[in-house]
Amino acid sequence: MGDTFVIEAHGLTKRFKHVTAVDGLDLSIRRGEIFGLLGPDGAGKTTTIRMLCAIMDPSAGTARVAGFDTVKESEAIKQRIGYMPQQFSLYGDLTVLENLTFFADVFQVQRQEREKRIARLLEFARLTEFKKRRAAHLSGGMQKKLALACTLIHSPEVIFLDEPTTGVDPVSRREFWDILTELHLQGVTLFVSTPYMDEAERCSRVALMFEGSIIVNDAPERIKGLVEGELLELRPDDLRRASRLIADLPGVLEVQTYGDLLHVFVDEAARRAGEIERGLREAGIAVHGLRQTRPRMEEAFISLIRKRLAGGGE
Ligand SMILES: Nc1ncnc2c1ncn2[C@@H]1O[C@H](COP(=O)(O)OP(=O)(O)O)[C@@H](O)[C@H]1O
Ligand SMILES: [Mg+2]
Repeated sequence: MGDTFVIEAHGLTKRFKHVTAVDGLDLSIRRGEIFGLLGPDGAGKTTTIRMLCAIMDPSAGTARVAGFDTVKESEAIKQRIGYMPQQFSLYGDLTVLENLTFFADVFQVQRQEREKRIARLLEFARLTEFKKRRAAHLSGGMQKKLALACTLIHSPEVIFLDEPTTGVDPVSRREFWDILTELHLQGVTLFVSTPYMDEAERCSRVALMFEGSIIVNDAPERIKGLVEGELLELRPDDLRRASRLIADLPGVLEVQTYGDLLHVFVDEAARRAGEIERGLREAGIAVHGLRQTRPRMEEAFISLIRKRLAGGGE
């Protein structure tokens, strides 16, 4: 109880007219964690974040953030958190510096603090040399960094970021995560939603959300450990036929497609590799680059979602 968890939810639920967007969520997030909420479009990520940020009341269940109830003490929460919505509203006509000053006003940052803090945030977001540029003329990645700097202007202890890297190029995505990692090292608690499975690797803990429920919630390494069997990777000439053929071979647990690659979970890689190669060769399908590899978050998540859809969830 109390201070151990900075974000806590019990049975948190949001029903809209035709959908249950969030369905009985239980969460406990420790101070200083970098928590990833991962899920496809429509999973319920934004609705979850809006309830935790005390912007939207739940239909059922409760949540506490920074020690306050999201319904009864919403004002106290708003002062202590930073919220970066997916469509963060920067003022396009204002410069980088003017945007930061504007948010300093909104959050009533004291005059004597202001200049120092803005300079530090500009530096932190790698935007110092662009401070006179209008926000509308920044690249997508730079706009996200400015939005983050504005979100940090009142030194919040918990930060919620809703898909901060969606639609941003890969290089800017990596830079943005480097900045988040720095915040994490400073002890700030971060709650980040993302549709990108590779970003889950950067979190201390990840929850995979699907159709309003959390399917798994653990450290990335442990999630990868949940996948059954060993993994083989290969590039067959006829992907679809090969995939069907392999799925029927003994010892094969699951087949996943990634571009022109097949990832095959088997009970025993050393033994099944030869059998797969032989099976395909006999069917007249050439195989390239057959090797054993380690499952990534991506394989783990796809496998877990499939089991869920097949009714195998608990
Ligand atoms: N204001 C709303 N009214 C009705 N349905 C909504 C509303 N907001 C979200 N939903 C529905 O709730 C589900 C979850 O949406 P959302 O939380 O936005 O998911 P995500 O952020 O993971 O894409 C979706 O089916 C969406 O259509
Ligand atoms: Mg969303």
